[in-house]
Amino acid sequence: MKHLLKLLDCSTEEILSILDMADQLKYENKHNITHHHLAGKSLGMIFEKSSTRTRVSFETGIYQLGGQPLFLSSRDLQIGRGEPVEDTARTLSRYVHGLLIRTYAQDEVETLAKCASIPVINGMTDFCHPCQVLADLMTIREKFAQLEGLKLCFIGDGHDNVANSLMVGGLKVGMEVAVASPSTHQPYPEVMDFVNGEIAKGAKFTLTEDVYEAAKNADVVFTDVWTSTGHEDMREENRRQLAGYQVNHELLEVCKPEVMVQHCLPAVRGEEITAEVFEEHADEIFEEAENRLHAQKAVMVKLMGEQD
Ligand code: CP
Repeated sequence: MKHLLKLLDCSTEEILSILDMADQLKYENKHNITHHHLAGKSLGMIFEKSSTRTRVSFETGIYQLGGQPLFLSSRDLQIGRGEPVEDTARTLSRYVHGLLIRTYAQDEVETLAKCASIPVINGMTDFCHPCQVLADLMTIREKFAQLEGLKLCFIGDGHDNVANSLMVGGLKVGMEVAVASPSTHQPYPEVMDFVNGEIAKGAKFTLTEDVYEAAKNADVVFTDVWTSTGHEDMREENRRQLAGYQVNHELLEVCKPEVMVQHCLPAVRGEEITAEVFEEHADEIFEEAENRLHAQKAVMVKLMGEQD
């Protein structure tokens, strides 16, 4: 792996290898074992959208690895005044050892990677959120000690970046995946192309408008906010179109008895998830948030560390 731009680019072996390293780094972190794999290295972090988890977990993560973070708001960079991403990539490649970017267009991340001579990590675009889903898979594997054969369902906006990355990541590790979303919020065509290829090879996948069909016998239920970061102008329309695509007690009745509920956060209680379900599953939701730290440290070590 040279970059982490989207899970579509990653092999199953690469994903599992990141999860294995994330487990090891989590163990070392909990046992105060020094793991300075990136001593003396720096990560430039370009943010064009708000963030709590991604920003703080990458900043503390590189610090724990012996390196240094540089938070670069697009408002302060010349990129915010129109300097081409190509020139930003070539300049920053001469100062830092890796780049993280959170932005709107996937094309911007792909261009950054094409022009940079250092690894680029996607910290979320409108299209996908690969770091989030690596942490999600890590959290599921911690609970069930396996991924293959489990049923994962996503309830809500099928056009959401986390939903699309879960579809790809879940199928790549052998999970059954089901998505319930309205016709107004369907997955990206390139993700459906991948899904259809996996179905042809025997994968189990369901795309439905019926939340109960998607959730039936699920081991893990995911949701995300109805309105993604940076698209707040769509909030009222999304509320109307996504009403009913909610994780609540009635929905969980049709899942497996020990169902795990995951939410990438931030959550809007009363929209995509009820306050009761959120609080009852808060331990596993915040374990998922913690695992952003460990999974992303693994990504940085794999991409920015010394190669064998
Ligand atoms: N889940 C997630 O990416 O959180 P932030 O937007 O706070 O980074």
